[in-house]
Amino acid sequence: MKYPKEYLEEIKTRLKVSTVVSKTVNLKKRGKEYVGLSPFKTEKTPSFTVNDEKEFYHCFSTAEHGNIFDFVMKTQNLKFGEAVKSLANLAGMRPYTFSKEDEIREKKWNNYKSIFNKYVDHYHNELLKNPISTDAKNYLKKRGLTLEEVKKFKIGFETNDVNFQKNIFAEFNENEIKDSGLFYFDQNKKKHLSRFRERVIFPIRNITGEIIAIGGRILKESKYSAKYINSPETPFFKKGSNLFNLDSARKLSNSLNNIFLVEGYMDVIGLSKNKIDNVVANLGTSLTTRQILSLNQFFDEIVICFDGDESGYKAALRAAENSIIELKPEKKISFLFLPDNHDPDSFVNEKGRDFFLDYSQSNSVSIHKFIFDHYLKNMDDSPSSRAIFEKRLRSISSTIKDEFIKKYVLEYFLEKISVFTPNTNLKYSKDYLKPTKSLKSTQNFYNETKSLKAIDLKEFSFLYILLKKPELIRDNFNLIENVKLFSNENKLLLSEILIQSKNFEITDIENFNVDQNLIERVLKYASIKHIIAKNFNNDEKLLEILSEIIRDLKNYELEVRIADLESRFSQDLSEATFNELKELKKLQKIN
Ligand code: UTP
Ligand code: MN
Repeated sequence: MKYPKEYLEEIKTRLKVSTVVSKTVNLKKRGKEYVGLSPFKTEKTPSFTVNDEKEFYHCFSTAEHGNIFDFVMKTQNLKFGEAVKSLANLAGMRPYTFSKEDEIREKKWNNYKSIFNKYVDHYHNELLKNPISTDAKNYLKKRGLTLEEVKKFKIGFETNDVNFQKNIFAEFNENEIKDSGLFYFDQNKKKHLSRFRERVIFPIRNITGEIIAIGGRILKESKYSAKYINSPETPFFKKGSNLFNLDSARKLSNSLNNIFLVEGYMDVIGLSKNKIDNVVANLGTSLTTRQILSLNQFFDEIVICFDGDESGYKAALRAAENSIIELKPEKKISFLFLPDNHDPDSFVNEKGRDFFLDYSQSNSVSIHKFIFDHYLKNMDDSPSSRAIFEKRLRSISSTIKDEFIKKYVLEYFLEKISVFTPNTNLKYSKDYLKPTKSLKSTQNFYNETKSLKAIDLKEFSFLYILLKKPELIRDNFNLIENVKLFSNENKLLLSEILIQSKNFEITDIENFNVDQNLIERVLKYASIKHIIAKNFNNDEKLLEILSEIIRDLKNYELEVRIADLESRFSQDLSEATFNELKELKKLQKIN
């Protein structure tokens, strides 16, 4: 049995080649392509390229070439069917089982598509050609749409054409028509009525561009009917999984990192008219995690821009709490709030493309900040209100799936919350835990070494070897020169040692141009003293000890930088910081 072309196409549409390949190969972006070390051969210079736009990979050193299915088959040694299964799973699709049921479903799907294509073509034509559509045409004109947008989105006007309905009912069976949701059975009139009659209709497409549903707007708003109605859920249209315009917006993901998520049809069309095409709409329903995951397959940053009214704000908050669950380190979700009750459509039409983009650049706030600020606004200074506030934030961060993000979002919240409990914080403050640094002459040796931090002692050992064995420096100058020390005093001593290293003997050190107390301390406290004495004539052994110390110092430096970055990451949750962090952690492992 063969997999239907559509099923394979959908997998390919949902998964970029780079997404699949980067599970096994470390890829770096270079222009439109990605490059990396070939998985088919051991090599030092990257000759393996991935092109998402053309949907293939190519290896210049082995001439291997193919799509995502080939890649998985070759690198994981799988049969075609197994590769399809594993990739469908990665794409979040149900496995294809080749049962009788699937065959029937496949047939239904083909008829479903066919009904929608006929319906949309017909009423698109009615809008363009039939004089009955004049009001609809004027309405669209009044809203700033030109023929270009009408064609691009295949907008139509449902003229309730009886002839057309007759043809449809003749060609397809009743169940298939019922499944399309385009008609409903009226119990009083005992006949099928067209759901979208006398409405401007907007086709809704799935991710591969097939029309699967309709949205319809009335021309004149009235109390008695909804401004918009959308297709009901059907076997092929699941509201929470679909996004309006994703089929076309996803094609921009090779050149753009971010996608705007708006509420309505007109927002997408208005932005598109202003040459902002990386936009999708969830059509007024609440945002699901499936929709977030689907956007994340293509874009690293989602900018949620709902209407600037109260219901838009509420929807944004709900969207934030739903989508933070899926936040990933390499992804970003932010929120853009528009002024003066604007929605994206009215805002971009009034201010223009550049203003809109600039405004979104400088006014979007990250998801964790939005959530925090929202709950902060709703808190008063009573202990009970504050307790609820903290509990709420803790519970939101606990829903996050990614452990890393969970930790840092919580950290971000707690850091900000700690402002409200200065007295409790005092007890745990860093100063309280820090050992005292000062060396008092009355302290005995034990106390003195205890007051020195482990890193000071390590640095002493390093300096001790150099002082005792200057000839080691001469042979390993490059290695030693690049060591970073933390204590400023130790740094001074090291640079003096390096300056003198060409020709000093141990007896010369009392003439060194540094505080002699420092040298004394090094000679006294370096824990390495006895080992050096024992191996004093074994240069090989000494070099080994020295290298070990240097490695420890480097690791310490990494640790400090990592701690630093971790605290930065908890503030900005940025991809750049995360990547830097990842690199450092890798280095730490190598060392
Ligand atoms: P809006 O009322 O903000 O839509 O609802 P809009 O695009 O700004 O409307 P107009 O045409 O400019 O006046 C946002 C989305 O919510 C859904 C629709 O999908 C709409 O695009 N909606 C809205 C409904 O499903 N039913 C409604 O009655 C209203
Ligand atoms: Mn709106």
